[in-house]
Amino acid sequence: MPESFHLKPVIKPLGKHHDRAAFDCGVEALQHYIREQAGQDMQRKIAATFVLVGDTSAAIVGYYTLSSTSVNIVELPEQVARKLPRYPMMPATLIGRLAVGRHYQGRGYGKFLLADALRRCLIATEQVGSVAVIVDAKDDKAKAFYEHFQFIPLVNYSHRLFLPMVVIEDYFTR
Ligand SMILES: CC(C)(COP(=O)(O)OP(=O)(O)OC[C@H]1O[C@@H](n2cnc3c(N)ncnc32)[C@H](O)[C@@H]1OP(=O)(O)O)[C@@H](O)C(=O)NCCC(=O)NCCS
Repeated sequence: MPESFHLKPVIKPLGKHHDRAAFDCGVEALQHYIREQAGQDMQRKIAATFVLVGDTSAAIVGYYTLSSTSVNIVELPEQVARKLPRYPMMPATLIGRLAVGRHYQGRGYGKFLLADALRRCLIATEQVGSVAVIVDAKDDKAKAFYEHFQFIPLVNYSHRLFLPMVVIEDYFTR
């Protein structure tokens, strides 16, 4: 049984001491990113990476990344767009990547990471505006995962989905 399964899981910003080389989620692009790119992207302020680890372990159970982005108002469904001012572009927050290590999948860690990411996105709106969280699903399986949590495809995109920030606020204040 994986060592950190016994430990209290915590989510922290990616640090130099985390063991990125061993991360294996079964998707090459997501493994490559955490191993080779995430540290540089953090330094350059392109994306912030947060890792799920056991409280005394350097092994990475899962991770997600957050960045600022924007969404064209015409890409939002009419029932969402009509509640917003008619600016062409709306501020949004991007979960660029989210992955759970192969040995840990199916135990609730993906949900734990997503909930933490959404909570962090909501808190950030106290300082910087954002009308929605956007995700890029890598494939149909990933898309189904996000749809399970009420994400909706953007107009004219099949694998780019969004969740309005007011819905996220409702999740955490209900
Ligand atoms: C997709 C992924 C993040 C899910 O993480 P996980 O830890 O296996 O999922 P969890 O155990 O937390 O599942 C949480 C809930 O989502 C559901 N779920 C999980 N994967 C799902 C999928 N592909 N489609 C639909 N629902 C899914 C579970 O049934 C569970 O439902 P419940 O809360 O109602 O019981 C993980 O399998 C993974 O990293 N896959 C490889 C990388 C990837 O595809 N990343 C997606 C972002 S591009």
